[in-house]
Amino acid sequence: MTTFELNGKEVTVDVPDDTPLLWVLRDELRMTGTKFGCGIAQCGACTVYLNGMTRRSCVTPVSMAEGAFVTTIEGLDGVEAEAVQQAWAKLDVPQCGWCQSGQVMSATALLREIPDPSDEDIDNAMAGNICRCATYVRIRKAIHDAADTLEG
Ligand code: FES
Ligand code: FES
Repeated sequence: MTTFELNGKEVTVDVPDDTPLLWVLRDELRMTGTKFGCGIAQCGACTVYLNGMTRRSCVTPVSMAEGAFVTTIEGLDGVEAEAVQQAWAKLDVPQCGWCQSGQVMSATALLREIPDPSDEDIDNAMAGNICRCATYVRIRKAIHDAADTLEG
């Protein structure tokens, strides 16, 4: 049994300790906003927060979540998250959409740490989030737009 707080609510799952958190979120808890891409910590599609830090859930055993706070795209909130989501919609960032929950999680984490990031900060922070539709230019613009909103 593993018990943790998911998006503000305590949950308990009865799965083997080494089950990837991603599958627990998607298959056991029906939080399907977090996506599977590569399964080897290379694409960022499965990004969630574990105790407020970005984490690749595809390579995180559920046992690591015991007693922790897990946040998925469904539970993402706060001023940075709102600014990111508004900028994403305004600039029409997503194409197929598959990578986008991971992109939004990483972009929000970046703005929480660096409210007005440079292009270099953005490239560094977002390097682990791959987009097969190559929406990188719009992602960068949207992060700057969200930073402007936060500044205003
Ligand atoms: S599915 Fe986890 S990093 Fe690609
Ligand atoms: S929007 Fe299609 S993979 Fe990123």
